[in-house]
Amino acid sequence: MSTLKIDLGNQGKAISPMLYGIFFEDINRAADGGLYANLIANGSFDYPKDEHGNDMRLACWEKSGDARIRVLKTKPTNKVNPNYLRLESEYGGGVMNTGFGNDGFGIRVDEGFKIAFKARAMYDTVVSFRIFADGRSLAEGSVVIDKTSWTDYTVSLRTRARRQNARLEIILPVGGCIDIDCISMFPTNTFKRRRNGMRNDIARMIRDLKPRFMRFPGGCVVEGRSMETMYNWKKSIGPVHEREINNNRWQMDEYQPDGDNNQDYFQTLGLGFYEYFLFCEDIGAEPVPVMNCGMTCQWHEGLTVPVDELWPWIQDVLDLIEFANGNCTTEWGAKRAELGHPAPFNLKYIGIGNEQWGSVYFERYEKFYEVINEKHPEIMLITSAGWNSEGEDFDTAVSWMKQNKEKAFAVDEHFYKSPEWFLENVGRYNDYDRTMPKVFAGEYACHTARDIRERRNNWYAALCEAAFMTGMENNADHVWMACYAPLLAKAGFDQWRPDLIWFNNLDVYGTPSYYVQKEFSRHYGAELIGSSCEDKDIHVSATADEEKLYIKIVNTSSEKKYLTLDTPGTEIADAGAEVLVIQAEPDAENSFDKPDNVMPEATVICIESGGEIEVLPYSVMIITVR
Ligand code: AHR
Repeated sequence: MSTLKIDLGNQGKAISPMLYGIFFEDINRAADGGLYANLIANGSFDYPKDEHGNDMRLACWEKSGDARIRVLKTKPTNKVNPNYLRLESEYGGGVMNTGFGNDGFGIRVDEGFKIAFKARAMYDTVVSFRIFADGRSLAEGSVVIDKTSWTDYTVSLRTRARRQNARLEIILPVGGCIDIDCISMFPTNTFKRRRNGMRNDIARMIRDLKPRFMRFPGGCVVEGRSMETMYNWKKSIGPVHEREINNNRWQMDEYQPDGDNNQDYFQTLGLGFYEYFLFCEDIGAEPVPVMNCGMTCQWHEGLTVPVDELWPWIQDVLDLIEFANGNCTTEWGAKRAELGHPAPFNLKYIGIGNEQWGSVYFERYEKFYEVINEKHPEIMLITSAGWNSEGEDFDTAVSWMKQNKEKAFAVDEHFYKSPEWFLENVGRYNDYDRTMPKVFAGEYACHTARDIRERRNNWYAALCEAAFMTGMENNADHVWMACYAPLLAKAGFDQWRPDLIWFNNLDVYGTPSYYVQKEFSRHYGAELIGSSCEDKDIHVSATADEEKLYIKIVNTSSEKKYLTLDTPGTEIADAGAEVLVIQAEPDAENSFDKPDNVMPEATVICIESGGEIEVLPYSVMIITVR
């Protein structure tokens, strides 16, 4: 029997109120066709060429019946995305949207949808819309196009059945001809019923994590693969169909999911910076935007903007700060107000660069720092430590930090590592130099195999993460923020595994890692309470706020353990404690069929000083004492 020591006698050490957060990147179809609730793919007929130079303007559209479809751009709806569709039908026919990745979209019984588009026609034309699946029409609506100039139209539909891969068809009468553009379709029931909003079930799963912050929009998508495809936040705000569609670096052949179905993977930016800020507000998370630092992805082309030409990139950061925090009389603050949010978003943190490394990065970072720190000393800047949390590139980052401690609030460490590494590194932060920038573990996950396709989202991976997270909590005076990566994956379109939350067109489930993240985040106090256990398979942390004490115990072994509770200097007398236990076989996983295979179970136990606590094999136990 080992002793679990919880040192309630000492005043607790203040810890980061920000420790647990999320990292959103448009990978694995996380944005278009994922969290962002629009269901029409390529609704503006402006998808750029794919990486092989193929014309993608009609991607995700198929003609039906006797229709003629052409992409034109004379007298367009807007100059940024000028293409539109001319739809003609001599004998009746139309056009069908096949959805993102040609995967259609999900519908449920009695679900409302709103279609919006711009159209024009020489003669009044009744255009019909139907949602269909398996050859059956499951919702219908129509509208008369009665203007010769571009005009906005909407149609509401209500579906009569539940289907995984429905499609939308737009049908013309015999002899009809219209121009149509800027087509979108949202479920009425978006998260918080926001216009241009998020898919409700996925957004709720994310909200339930109780994230204190959200890091966005990437990831490598921030970097892009060329100067033109670097993520530019200014192109992501304003009317949705006037946001220039960008390539997605995750479209590349080398990241093909099993279905080899990535050719139409672009970033429409319908989910743009304004929506990110709103979403952060809706889920109670601090926004942590990551800005391009004048470098493209170092895994690929690794292009760099010359140091003396960085000014536009630095200006973009200054403008973002004004957009988020400036009052409505400033240029960018006024744009925010115009978009519907006069109150500031209260931005505090900004990442400069995503996963950048080497002196080539730090000389650029310093240029950003000099200007931003002078104009906005209140903004906490996050610097990158590169792709690995050890080795030569990491050492370069550490030596830069040692010489430039004051130039960053936090350093973004990334670690995608083996189960063994996670267990060996539980104490990683114990001896970190507290005078250095704080730690932001901006991307991490336990990888059960080297090969991406072999990696599992199983309980053992989650358990090793949990053990490691007790180490982060024990050092949360210095480890300021941490977020698992990646957050989302659409089944069949996952180019990276493991991921925290999986979804398809209708359903969503959390992996075992999701439940670890969720319960660690929801049971986290404001002060650190000293805790220890001499058993090498047991990892513990304890935090408290004014009302509650949270004790986390992770047993990574196959044996049941019995721990004697020692609370020096304080007596816990026969207190009823709420307990959450997550326990499973190491290879257990969740799935669409069994979403709750690995789940926390709640019980109440009696806790007292000197008493015994039983800890199940391969388990995470969270004890809350009031
Ligand atoms: O999370 C997936 C990728 O891993 C991120 O885009 C990148 O920052 C890292 O290499």
